[in-house]
Amino acid sequence: MVTLRDDTFRGITALMHETVGLAFADSKKSLVSSRLGPRIQRLGLASFEDYLALIRNDEGGGGEFQAAIDLLTTNETYFFREPAHYALLEQELTRAKPASLAVWSAASSFGDEAYSTAMLLADLQQQGRIGVDWRVLGTDISDRVLRAATEAVYPEERLREVSPERLRRHCLRGEGTSAGLVLMHERLRERVRFGQLNLCQPIEAIGPFDVVFLRNVLIYFDPPTKAEVVDRVLSQLRPGGLFFIGTAEGRVACKAPLDVLAPGAFRKRAAPA
Ligand SMILES: C[S@@+](CC[C@H](N)C(=O)[O-])C[C@H]1O[C@@H](n2cnc3c(N)ncnc32)[C@H](O)[C@@H]1O
Repeated sequence: MVTLRDDTFRGITALMHETVGLAFADSKKSLVSSRLGPRIQRLGLASFEDYLALIRNDEGGGGEFQAAIDLLTTNETYFFREPAHYALLEQELTRAKPASLAVWSAASSFGDEAYSTAMLLADLQQQGRIGVDWRVLGTDISDRVLRAATEAVYPEERLREVSPERLRRHCLRGEGTSAGLVLMHERLRERVRFGQLNLCQPIEAIGPFDVVFLRNVLIYFDPPTKAEVVDRVLSQLRPGGLFFIGTAEGRVACKAPLDVLAPGAFRKRAAPA
């Protein structure tokens, strides 16, 4: 078993902090060791020092650096996670009846959040409660999850919060060797796009969005990085737009003025003149 030295632990965490904003307290040394140790052995490397050299050289590339991020974060997600947020979105959209709508799932993981939103919007459109011009963008740092998101195939278990009627309307059930899997219907796939985006680096103008989900990703960042990320993301949300973070992520200090609507749900106020 390889041993993680303190200086190498600091080297790994400094690299992760500078590049993707991940923050690890000293108490997380055993977590980092247990997540990366088996990978080091699988790669046939002799030490954590060799692994650090490998990911340093690959920084920004699609190889081992990406694999390390995947191992150090969790991509856990499922359809209609935190259902109260979708209920609030439905209520707000029903009230506002927007003719067009752009939604950003900004740490989309495998796309469950983006497709949950697309199911809701497709239903609201069908009921005449929103216009026909809507789209959803999902972004994440991990190319592995983005590849899966683009395929739009999910284990049924991840759709446990989806009603049977909604499942029938929006999903195709796999048979034979694909039993237990569901494919998002073409009608949804054509509205949802995915792309790679690091929330900890300056971003080009991709908005403005009417709704932004930034859920269950802020937990990885330290308070200054959290505030920077939130302000960067909110710069892409139009005034009056809705902003969601995970309900367990606490209060977020940011420059943009927000009105609280419900736990983890906010409306961006217009900037003072
Ligand atoms: C737990 S998942 C959240 C998925 C979804 N938003 C939800 O709430 O179910 C966290 C995602 O954040 C992504 N992530 C971590 N650091 C990131 C960064 N700096 N930029 C963009 N995405 C990041 C991870 O790759 C992971 O897919």
